[in-house]
Amino acid sequence: MTRIHFNEVATRDGFQIEPAFVPTDVKVALVDELSQCGYAKIEVTSFTSPKAIPMLRDAEEVMGRIRRVPGVEYTVLVPNLRGAERALESRADELNLVMSVSETHNLANLRMPRSHSFEALGGVIRHVNGHTPINVSLSCSFGCPMEGDVPLAALLAWTQRFADLGVRGLTLCDTTGMAHPAQVQQVAETLQQRFPALQLTLHFHNTRGMGLANVLAAVQAGITRFDGSLGGLGGCPYAPGASGNICSEDAIHMLAAMGYDTGIDLPRLLTLARGLPDIVGHEVPGQVAKAGRISDLHPAPDFVAELRARFEGAAP
Ligand code: COA
Ligand code: ZN
Repeated sequence: MTRIHFNEVATRDGFQIEPAFVPTDVKVALVDELSQCGYAKIEVTSFTSPKAIPMLRDAEEVMGRIRRVPGVEYTVLVPNLRGAERALESRADELNLVMSVSETHNLANLRMPRSHSFEALGGVIRHVNGHTPINVSLSCSFGCPMEGDVPLAALLAWTQRFADLGVRGLTLCDTTGMAHPAQVQQVAETLQQRFPALQLTLHFHNTRGMGLANVLAAVQAGITRFDGSLGGLGGCPYAPGASGNICSEDAIHMLAAMGYDTGIDLPRLLTLARGLPDIVGHEVPGQVAKAGRISDLHPAPDFVAELRARFEGAAP
């Protein structure tokens, strides 16, 4: 059975865009519950400027208070050297560096041209010097909401530059849900072929309803690592039209039904998902938490037994 690794990003990609600040105690409790569900990785928070992302201004406290479960990697999003220093002090297991392959989105999100981001992230990688694994998340890998198409050649060139710096992994982010399954297949096949040593993760948003179709296309192309967000929360504050990540429990439910081993305790995860609207104060997009698993059957209405008896009695 193929093992699929999930990275839960609700407390980072999800909470960063929530209109109301999620209290620190609640964040810590949720990460602790998620730690018991069988995730390979949890993206706990981000060490960004508290002015840019005020919802995650309690990053140090959250990282300091969570109970770490052996076997789960606790990663954090880092935009610059200052963020990396904070992340290392907080004993993050991995630094997830971020930049955009779109110049316009990079200027909007990180306030600098891509060349400056790359230089800064190169500085972070040299500073960390192999002591903590580095992942790089490339925003807008499948298209930019302001620039449009992102050529595959550009994506390959940025990947090559980070591979040359010796990073462990790379996450291709479909920041605003522009990827479609045929594109995902092509990109996934090309990147795996060109960079066999790189740990590749795919990060989809369900903005246009193509999220799970894209997961399936990626799995069929050989990808085994995905980011997902409990309840389907999430979105980039600097990407017009961004909406939720693929919903972790919906994706895990689909893959489990197809016979993939996700390592996740789905009933436990669904219990957490059902508590999420109380945490964020609104409905969330995830569907399996509402509908139940395909194996959660409903009793037939009473009259079905009567009909069955009547039709059996009258069988020709
Ligand atoms: N952690 C804490 N504070 C930071 C910081 C970090 N990683 N990086 C910068 N700052 C502070 C600076 O100290 C400065 O504070 P001051 O105004 O009190 O002096 C302020 O932020 C501005 O610093 P500057 O270096 O000019 O950064 P900037 O304004 O160009 O912002 C980023 C650059 C990347 C730090 C900021 O845009 C950011 O954090 N963006 C978040 C992107 C994000 O997470 N998007 C969603 C997920 S993809
Ligand atoms: Zn995202």
